[in-house]
Amino acid sequence: MKITIFGTGYVGLVTGACLADVGHDVVCMDVDQGKIDKLRNGQIPIYEPGLESIVKHNAESGRLSFTTDPEQAVAHGLIQFIAVGTPPDEDGSADLQYVTAVARTIGQYMDDYRVVVDKSTVPVGTGDKVRDAVRAELDKRGLELDFDVVSNPEFLKEGAAITDFMKPDRIVVGTDSERAQELLRETYYPFNRNHDRMIFMDIRSAELTKYAANAMLATKISFMNEIANLSERLGADIEAVRRGIGSDPRIGYHFIYPGCGYGGSCFPKDVQALARTARGCDYDAKLLNAVEEVNLSQKHVLFDKVSHYFQGQLSGKVVALWGLAFKPNTDDMREASSRTLMESLWKAGASVQAFDPEAMGETQRIYGDQEGLTLCGTKEQALKGADVLVICTEWKEFRSPDFANIASALSEPVVFDGRNLYEPEMLDRHGLIYYAIGRGRNQ
Ligand code: UGA
Repeated sequence: MKITIFGTGYVGLVTGACLADVGHDVVCMDVDQGKIDKLRNGQIPIYEPGLESIVKHNAESGRLSFTTDPEQAVAHGLIQFIAVGTPPDEDGSADLQYVTAVARTIGQYMDDYRVVVDKSTVPVGTGDKVRDAVRAELDKRGLELDFDVVSNPEFLKEGAAITDFMKPDRIVVGTDSERAQELLRETYYPFNRNHDRMIFMDIRSAELTKYAANAMLATKISFMNEIANLSERLGADIEAVRRGIGSDPRIGYHFIYPGCGYGGSCFPKDVQALARTARGCDYDAKLLNAVEEVNLSQKHVLFDKVSHYFQGQLSGKVVALWGLAFKPNTDDMREASSRTLMESLWKAGASVQAFDPEAMGETQRIYGDQEGLTLCGTKEQALKGADVLVICTEWKEFRSPDFANIASALSEPVVFDGRNLYEPEMLDRHGLIYYAIGRGRNQ
């Protein structure tokens, strides 16, 4: 199958590389010449385990190529995926200018039937806008070509995107056309052979499914964070509570880990966008608003604990910080809790010695000139001369550190853990005071 992908960001590149890997003939199109040049040279603009080798392998075998030429891109694929960004507007709603620009491009150059598939996360109703944009361009050209619009949201997790794509839980396809349905079935056949994971529905329901999935997951996290905050006040241990409720299969163990708040490019943006969509149709989405509000305050919890420990006297204090990315296995720092923490610490006059296994370059890019920030090459280096240690991301290499070394390096033997990595007794044995999230008796 000939496939074109518009947008070589995270979603576009993973989609293009994985579809090429199962044998499709894929062209990835981007307006950014620099990005395309790099991709042609095998340089991948993002960190995602496994992506580089799969891109290189398929580019070498000729199944995956890159272009900035819109005419060539539209001519190539019977299926045209739109996988461009939908950044939030000032008011939190998704900015659709890039999506509609691609739709117009398709309308400008297509000369035969095309399936226009929206993979970007877009508000309910965008399918109609995409259809109108393609149709308007065809009208300008005086053409009456047939085309179909499909919503096919992605459910990729950063750090596990290749596996998520190759072994999907579900492939949601929203369409009102049988022809498009059959073409999408054929496109995804290699991922769907053993048992049917395709769920067909109308376009609007597919668009809402994407937001509902992320909003549900964000709700689970904010709920657990609220119970964690309660646990602290009530002298209960959220880790025991988590196991206690997770054992009920109706609740389940997944995605109920309390922490210092969720970040990333998806949950914060999508929860806000869905709440905004609700307001747009005169519905006050009270739960969604609360999920967002709880998360914003959860991102301040670590700072509040550090500040409380030093009785508000943070000026001149040095904080070792382990973990800057919004979660492990990525260098992405968008909406990361580490940023809220660092910015609050600097405001209070403290300085930060930071280490992350992958996000040092990203930290340099965002905060390069920041006074009060030292970028460290190892987690041990971050400890040297620091007063206390704070952990924001649960990277594997933080799970079993040398506690004796931590205790001797810090001027105050205190660890603030935003991800509940340790058993309090372990730190106790090394004379470390341990503040985690929601572990009441130890706070
Ligand atoms: C999320 C969804 O999990 C994907 O299914 C979805 O496709 C993607 O958004 C998207 O819309 O593109 P992602 O943002 O990569 O994926 O990251 P997650 O693994 O979901 O983690 C998000 C945040 O929640 C992280 O900050 C993580 O630390 C936090 N989290 C997660 C918790 O605090 N507790 C948990 O139990 C789980």
